[in-house]
Amino acid sequence: MCGIVGYIGDRGATPLLLDGLKRLEYRGYDSAGVAVLNGNGVETRKAAGKISRLEAALNASPVHGNLGIAHTRWATHGAPNECNAHPHVDCKGNIAVVHNGIIENSNALKTHLESLGHKFVSETDTEVIAHLIEEAFDGNLEDAVIEALWQIEGTYGIAVVSSEDSDKIVAARKGSPLLVGLGDGEYFVASDASAILAHTREVVYLDDGDLAVLTRDGYRVIDLRAKTLERSVHKIEWDLHQIERGGFDHFMLKEIFEQPETIENCMRGRLLDEEGTAKLGGLNMTDEELLKFDNVVITACGTSWHSALIGEHMMEELTRIPVEVEYASEFRYRNPIVNDRTLCIVISQSGETADTLAAMREARNRGARTYGVVNVVGSTIPRESQGGIYVHAGPEIGVASTKAFTSQVVALSLLTLKIGRLKDVSVVRGKEIIEALRALPGQVKQILDRAGEIEALAEEFKRAQNFLYLGRGYNFPTALEGALKLKEISYIHAEGYPAAEMKHGPIALIDEMMPVVFIAPHDSVFDKVVSNIQEVKARKGHVIAITSREEPALAGKLDYEFRIPETIDMLTPVLACIPLQLLAYYIAVKRGSNVDQPRNLAKSVTVE
Ligand code: AGP
Repeated sequence: MCGIVGYIGDRGATPLLLDGLKRLEYRGYDSAGVAVLNGNGVETRKAAGKISRLEAALNASPVHGNLGIAHTRWATHGAPNECNAHPHVDCKGNIAVVHNGIIENSNALKTHLESLGHKFVSETDTEVIAHLIEEAFDGNLEDAVIEALWQIEGTYGIAVVSSEDSDKIVAARKGSPLLVGLGDGEYFVASDASAILAHTREVVYLDDGDLAVLTRDGYRVIDLRAKTLERSVHKIEWDLHQIERGGFDHFMLKEIFEQPETIENCMRGRLLDEEGTAKLGGLNMTDEELLKFDNVVITACGTSWHSALIGEHMMEELTRIPVEVEYASEFRYRNPIVNDRTLCIVISQSGETADTLAAMREARNRGARTYGVVNVVGSTIPRESQGGIYVHAGPEIGVASTKAFTSQVVALSLLTLKIGRLKDVSVVRGKEIIEALRALPGQVKQILDRAGEIEALAEEFKRAQNFLYLGRGYNFPTALEGALKLKEISYIHAEGYPAAEMKHGPIALIDEMMPVVFIAPHDSVFDKVVSNIQEVKARKGHVIAITSREEPALAGKLDYEFRIPETIDMLTPVLACIPLQLLAYYIAVKRGSNVDQPRNLAKSVTVE
């Protein structure tokens, strides 16, 4: 996902912009650039590849000024090269724009602008914005930006500067997150707070349709009719070190090891031990309203879709409400059966995934009540949903989601407990669930203390070309998640499957070259999994089993066994996924992958 940073103040802009871009590297990008007003005009420097190449270009040819904008680009239109990198400028080079999002009518606008004599140099949709502003400019930058934005269809988060109205930055947002940072006599704009946290904790989140005009004397937020808007100031609670690696080789490993704490944080203040239920502040519904729903839809993408499958299982088991899980990208284009008795749960770590956001809007338009299960505070999904729960996993920098996943499962269990106790779940059962939840952080810690065993296993299997992950019940989604973790960071092909489905095809793949990971905790379907393991062994497959108890029937059948602590069935994925996260991580490291920023991937997919 692209990143935006802007600065206006009394300090040199270039080093601040570069530092901000580095804080955004985790989002995934393939080129970068800056534009600085140096008193004579707009100076831009751009480079394909990593920010270090942009830094080299700036060292070779410095730009000085205390007002500027910068961008990391994840290519959507046009190759990832220097010409297509942002910022983009108008014909005279007096206006510079950085942009996150997609201009859907860019071709038509470009044709019209070329008919007016504008010359384009890049393949991007973004460049259209610079020429639209140029065409509309009449001395006031924000007026020209407004006129340009009225002509745009699509999504944008932009920052704009001009040497002809040179003491301001104009920012605007529609569908791509943007915030204003309030410093001491200096102001920032950024696509997320990590870019500016070193300078301020006071931020104003822009809403869709907002513009912000930043000068050295302050900022104001206006709408597309130039009407002033009131926006509250938020204080960022997490610390910079939380987005630093903290001594770990990779953000992903740090985040795997943070899980005892993040699971604790997700439950903090939300468990009512005596009543055997959960307290959810952001529900925004009375118990009576909550009981009104006779169906649930859970929509998400990727790892969040895997936690959705676990949520489906636990909600149907404990609340007896029918639950459908939908890929957001599919849901949004179907004609789903959704009405005012539908609770639509929307799961997203980033809170910005375009498909998930669109699916939520579609469900709401059809009358559903939307409820977000999100990690990033202040992101779009929680600001548009009608209620929700923050999973409080803290910034998740590694592209492969780990701590957010386990906290999503915990958050879903809290919601399930809350609804279940309003229905047929007894206080005794409720207390059992709470007891199991409270034990999770310590149990996760026990597993992490044995990470070395998984690293040794990774050494043995790092050259495998394919993996199969098999599980049943609550741990079929765990199998999917384990496979996704491995494939997205090690680039080894891996598939997750329901264990019983293996005999309907995938068993043809089994041979001595195929490692098969079984998620086999001692749950209600354990005996069935045992027979699936035996089927694989009979075909010379290598079996790696995540178990929770000694099983005589498996004696001599397992090539490798990793035992995890026991918990209630619905929480087994939280424990079983930890060794799978570690296995994927260590194999990827041993294969030399860029673990935190795997090829082709972005941390948040804010385009379709
Ligand atoms: C997970 O490891 C992947 N990075 C990806 O599948 C991710 O879960 C998906 O893009 C959804 O992201 P979200 O949770 O931020 O909406």
